[in-house]
Amino acid sequence: MTDIQWVYGIEPESMTPEWRQRIIDLFLSETQEVYQDSSFINLAIPQWDGNLMLIDRDTYPKPSCLKGIMWSKPFMEDSVRVVAFVIDKDFQSKGHGGNAWKFMTKSLKNQGKKYIQLEVKCSNVNAQNFYRVRGMEIIRRIDSYYKTEHGYMMRGNL
Ligand SMILES: CC(C)(COP(=O)(O)OP(=O)(O)OC[C@H]1O[C@@H](n2cnc3c(N)ncnc32)[C@H](O)[C@@H]1OP(=O)(O)O)[C@@H](O)C(=O)NCCC(=O)NCCS
Repeated sequence: MTDIQWVYGIEPESMTPEWRQRIIDLFLSETQEVYQDSSFINLAIPQWDGNLMLIDRDTYPKPSCLKGIMWSKPFMEDSVRVVAFVIDKDFQSKGHGGNAWKFMTKSLKNQGKKYIQLEVKCSNVNAQNFYRVRGMEIIRRIDSYYKTEHGYMMRGNL
């Protein structure tokens, strides 16, 4: 049995390079997206209820203990943008993503945020369904948003 749970994340720029590499690897294996270390640093994700890490406490602090991340940012007065959300394949479809979503949306709503939005690959129907079940809808297509394909912007109320 793994002892796995969501904990508050730190700013990407404060992580060790090994931890950032682990996140780069997670993105590559689960989304086929290639990120550079410098692009993580530039994201400027704050430490707040929208920055969560899924950790296997038994293997902490090895980089491999990191099983998922949810990174979002405040934007404008009342909105939140999910910048990155990924979970290791072995830990998907077990309710972890839904738990992080519930925690984040409830907390940020309590802090006065009203809307949430994100971008998702047009081909990523599983993620679109995950978001749709949680009240989000596609509001527009963004051509060539990703290196290899178009994206959708999804938006919903908190
Ligand atoms: C999209 C993603 C973050 C969702 O996280 P997740 O942990 O897989 O999601 P959950 O397990 O909470 O929910 C997915 C489904 O699993 C099932 N599920 C939920 N709890 C479960 C449990 N305890 N046991 C088994 N299945 C469960 C449900 O059918 C749920 O469906 P719902 O969305 O209708 O509620 C994750 O699948 C992922 O990392 N995918 C690859 C990367 C990606 O596409 N990221 C999004 C980019 S925009």
